[in-house]
Amino acid sequence: MKLRILVVAGDGIGPEVTSEAVAVLTEAASLGGHEFAFSERRIGGVAIVQDGTPLPAETLSEALASDAVLLGAVGGNEFNSLPPDKRPEAGLLKIRAELGGFANLRPAFAFKELTVNSPLRSEVVDGADILFVRELLGGLYFGKPREWNKATGEAWNTMRYTREEVARVARVAFQLARHRRKKVTSVDKANVLEVSQLWRATVNEVATEFPDVTLEHQYVDAMAMHLMNQPRNYDVVVTENLFGDILSDEAAVITGSLGMLPSATIGGKVNLYEPVHGSAPDIAGKGLANPLGAILTGALILRHSAGLETEAAAIETAVRKVLEQGFRTPDLARANPQGYPVLSTKEMGAKVRETVKALLVNA
Ligand code: IPM
Ligand code: MG
Repeated sequence: MKLRILVVAGDGIGPEVTSEAVAVLTEAASLGGHEFAFSERRIGGVAIVQDGTPLPAETLSEALASDAVLLGAVGGNEFNSLPPDKRPEAGLLKIRAELGGFANLRPAFAFKELTVNSPLRSEVVDGADILFVRELLGGLYFGKPREWNKATGEAWNTMRYTREEVARVARVAFQLARHRRKKVTSVDKANVLEVSQLWRATVNEVATEFPDVTLEHQYVDAMAMHLMNQPRNYDVVVTENLFGDILSDEAAVITGSLGMLPSATIGGKVNLYEPVHGSAPDIAGKGLANPLGAILTGALILRHSAGLETEAAAIETAVRKVLEQGFRTPDLARANPQGYPVLSTKEMGAKVRETVKALLVNA
């Protein structure tokens, strides 16, 4: 199969981590007898500087003409004083909206070798395997009205959802749960917010289509605590945009590093793939970034856009094997009593690539 993938590497560590992901993807695809064509365009801060806008029209039209889009990260300290609609992040929100994917899948898997990296006790995190399904096109991120009225000193955003928007993301969560441990936890704030009451009622309705899946509801504040106390209790967690943004960063505590988390956004015209981490300007360009979140994002491209499960699984197995062999990036080696070898971004990418090759050649 031939797949056209647009790479929008963006800012900070975006280019370093996506280039490792592309190299691993290329290896896995070609060993499976498939050819992927990659092109590159600008987004975020680099696009503001060079094109005067965080999402140039050309980037968007290329994205819409691709089979999948791989995004690195956007954002930089030099843009911090800009209003939300002029910042690098606006480019990301616009491409999300235009591509139309509403279900952002954020798997958080605690690799055994990294449990020591979590501040939580190993026996609490070991075996945790959660799939967050974050609604990506609604809620406070997109709701109107939104404004900072400098004259009156007021500002407001709107958390708005329709029944259809909730139902479609809930359906994705239940469907995915069917292929996992058949449990959905829906997170809301229905004790305070009308929009959460709509959310809960709609999720309950959708649940009747999936009698084989267990549904539970949690308030977001309690969920933030339960996630740390008993992460193994959760299978699929479905929630609205901002709650999902917050809880998925919290999940990084379970996996040992934010640098480990991949994501895939499905349900729209073109799937969008991005590691969960940000642009990390403090370490950009130094070879210190962990490319594993981006590489695991590549595995999600193979799974969700190419249907290449063998190759996707090979990448995930390769990441596990490289960790088992003791290789680490700096974010994974803060506590390193064993003196594990600490690799640069490129070296880690190369290790995974070699391992993918060995796995697929011997398959
Ligand atoms: C994420 C990020 C983005 C978000 C930012 C960069 C706009 O935090 O993907 O989690 O809030 O969705
Ligand atoms: Mg976030």
